[in-house]
Amino acid sequence: MKSSQIRKEFLNFFKEKNHQIVSSSPMVVKNDPTLMFTNAGMNQFKDFFLGNAKPSDLRVTDTQKCLRVSGKHNDLEEVGYDTYHHTMFEMLGNWSFGDFFKEDAIRWAWELLTEVYKIDKDRIYVSVFEGSKEDNLSRDNESATIWEDLIDSNRIIDGSKKDNFWEMGDIGPCGPCSEIHIDIRADNERNQIDGKSLVNQDHPQVIEVWNLVFMQYNRKANGSLENLPAQHVDTGMGFERLCMVLQGVTSNYDTDIFQPIISRIEDLSGIHYGKEEKTDIAMRVIADHLRAISFSIADGQLPSNTGAGYVIRRILRRAVRYGFTFLNFKEPFICNLVNQLVLDMGSQFPELKSQHSLIEKVIKEEEISFLKTLEKGILKIENLKLDSSNMISGKVAFELYDTYGFPIDLSQLIAQEKGWSVDIESFKELLEEQKDRSRKATSIEAQDWVIVREDDVEEFVGYDTLKTELNIVKYRKVVFKGDTFFQLVFNLTPFYPEGGGQVGDIGFIEFDGVKTEIVDTKKENNLIIHFAKSLPQNLEATFIAQVNKDLRTDSANNHSATHLLHHCLREVLGEHVEQKGSLVNSDYLRFDFSHFSKLSSSEVRLIEQKVNNKIRENIALNEYRNLPLSSAKEMGAMALFGEKYGDTVRVIQFDDSIELCGGTHVNHTGEIGLFKLISEGAVASGIRRIEAITSSKALQFYEDQFQENRELKLLIKNNDLLKGVHQLIDENQKLKKQIEKLSSQKAGSLK
Ligand code: SER
Repeated sequence: MKSSQIRKEFLNFFKEKNHQIVSSSPMVVKNDPTLMFTNAGMNQFKDFFLGNAKPSDLRVTDTQKCLRVSGKHNDLEEVGYDTYHHTMFEMLGNWSFGDFFKEDAIRWAWELLTEVYKIDKDRIYVSVFEGSKEDNLSRDNESATIWEDLIDSNRIIDGSKKDNFWEMGDIGPCGPCSEIHIDIRADNERNQIDGKSLVNQDHPQVIEVWNLVFMQYNRKANGSLENLPAQHVDTGMGFERLCMVLQGVTSNYDTDIFQPIISRIEDLSGIHYGKEEKTDIAMRVIADHLRAISFSIADGQLPSNTGAGYVIRRILRRAVRYGFTFLNFKEPFICNLVNQLVLDMGSQFPELKSQHSLIEKVIKEEEISFLKTLEKGILKIENLKLDSSNMISGKVAFELYDTYGFPIDLSQLIAQEKGWSVDIESFKELLEEQKDRSRKATSIEAQDWVIVREDDVEEFVGYDTLKTELNIVKYRKVVFKGDTFFQLVFNLTPFYPEGGGQVGDIGFIEFDGVKTEIVDTKKENNLIIHFAKSLPQNLEATFIAQVNKDLRTDSANNHSATHLLHHCLREVLGEHVEQKGSLVNSDYLRFDFSHFSKLSSSEVRLIEQKVNNKIRENIALNEYRNLPLSSAKEMGAMALFGEKYGDTVRVIQFDDSIELCGGTHVNHTGEIGLFKLISEGAVASGIRRIEAITSSKALQFYEDQFQENRELKLLIKNNDLLKGVHQLIDENQKLKKQIEKLSSQKAGSLK
């Protein structure tokens, strides 16, 4: 069975069991500070488990793009060395949100594996949670009893908390799980050693394929468990492993998911896969990492020096150096594999197709620059002056690792060739110190939520008002980088939470003349969280909330200007321009977009003019809330890659600029007053960045410019400073008045 067919059968099976098929959420997580990448199918449904949001379907199924390279689930170092771990993988899953529970989940999993996929029953083992004294939980007898009805009890294994209690992170929804393992060894091996003894022993051919998690608890900050409001099911099956089983091969890399890419690597390197362990590992690393990198770029995450971008850069570099060291690639080569990946996976994941050339360009650029760094590092090793011990110190090895991206085994290899060694112990110490530093820098210590009053789902009223009465629903204390904050959740809120590039609102809530400052507003999945430096005295009071109007107005100006800019860029440069990143705050706007060459000064001028024309046209905002996604698409609304939209969306239209957007905007473009582009440059290969300012900030910019030029002219020409200064002040005032008049004209009066 081809992998595409296997995927289809899975989704159809659950569709017939009344599950709604949904699309994968992006692999790069944007609205959950506890998570950088999607590491499990359940991430996008977290709020349903926690009761923060209500699902529209109680049963869903999907295939989810996952990346396990950071945090609690991190498989990076294993990848390549074995045949079944991956950085990026697809997780097939089905869910019940307070609907069916253990009985159906287990019976359907069994039916699908044995009757649809026709896997031999005598190759299957299942595990159930043995219980945990520490958590005061007894054995999951309920699951065991259901399994006993389906499978020989000899094949049911009790599993420890480590294997059979699934937790997404240190806190949050969790529960006992039942895993399904398959023994794909040849019969003679199976006769010699009982497969049961190999379950969970890291045997490459006795592997876990499916995990059925029964979410019923919430892990609190103090480590204790509380019951969730309802019982849920979260199942996840490794697609690549399932394909290995069904295609009768013994390595994920031998399935039709990886083989075409490996063949391509063979062609490019002239080395055969299966000949030598070292080169095989390198090919597996490259084939795996190619997917992780390409899907991340398609989802909008470019390699960079910080955060998620840095993780991607490191994965890419890991692939480059395996190719460099073991397959003799001294020129960019990963970029030449993208085409094959797009051919193989582009129909299931159209984002790969549409971002094809961008992915290639970004990878190529990264490869070129890393290969240069590698060369520099090699030169550094060549020029090392060692003492008689002929040992590279831990400090130098660490510098090679940290600054030049040299993995320690590469330094060791080069050292070995020269008859040297590396002080590995001191290298490890330095590495540990660094890991410790970064753990501390990013660790968020959150206490449990304290409920103040029961409320359904928080409502955002900030599109219509900046001031409202509200109540606190819950709060918690959080320590981040040594600072203590209180996070507050309200029953309704006028504060815009950071999102879509726009920064979160600030302001205050007030009761009885006492104000509590709101210093930031962010979203955690669907929950709007307000950050305060202190906790209000009377938590149960009804507060008056006021958003800082000036900052919100400036942000709205910049956000609407961003839409106009996006539109004008497409008009001037072409339809290939797509948004790749955006930052909107009260000071300025930053817009990253795909385009392959530097903008000429006439293009810059034209874009600036066009945006200012749109401002002067004073176009009225058309805002559509809760529009079905299909209708928005019919209107021609621009959507972002790497963004998952719900069934209904918000559309922001200024004439022919139509975008899906959750941000805050001006009512008429005239309110923006003035637009000034202040910089244009490259972010990565194929990605340009524009920075611009609007309204009073743009005005100030012109004033400063004007002043400088006039002053200079006057000084040089007339040598009459006093007269010149008077003239300057007059002209400045005139210009200021003109522009202020323009920017303060209200709705309709300009038309
Ligand atoms: N959340 C579980 C896992 O990731 C099952 O989907 O294994």
